[in-house]
Amino acid sequence: MSDNSVKTANDVAENFEPKILVFACNWCTYAGADLAGTSRLQYPPNVRILRVPCSCRVNPQFVIRAFQRGIDGVLVAGCHPGDCHYTTGNYYTRRRFLLINRMMEYMGIDPKRFHTRWISGAEGPKFQQVVTEMIEEVRAIGPNRKLRDDMKVTVNTDDIVASVEADTKVVADNV
Ligand code: FES
Repeated sequence: MSDNSVKTANDVAENFEPKILVFACNWCTYAGADLAGTSRLQYPPNVRILRVPCSCRVNPQFVIRAFQRGIDGVLVAGCHPGDCHYTTGNYYTRRRFLLINRMMEYMGIDPKRFHTRWISGAEGPKFQQVVTEMIEEVRAIGPNRKLRDDMKVTVNTDDIVASVEADTKVVADNV
């Protein structure tokens, strides 16, 4: 490796600003993020928030697609267990994403790139803390290079999602 290429790799690492995508449930975490904003709590601008009706609305394919599109870390956040607006939605979220976490490890994606958290509408400071810690964690492990469309790596996401959904059903049937 030439000096130039070493320098370029170091420059990339030094200047790396992770892109974090947050799927926030409308009833709790989105309100918590809003509270963080209105309370003027500072967190890095690397975060993009997508509002969803409930954390269980997040199909695992959305997460995989985010990594394919160059996102470096994904957070799925919703109401605390027992507080879901739809009663049991976040229990499905928890089961589903335990499985997808294992699946991502299998695909070679560092599990630090994906988290689920419960953040209520009153927890603006918690939202600030969770996203700030996640950005630091992802910054430390570097850019996402797996699955990215621009890296020309192809994955059959339909197979992955079908497999995760089948596993989720097995777990749900046994709870
Ligand atoms: S409505 Fe918030 S997790 Fe279901």
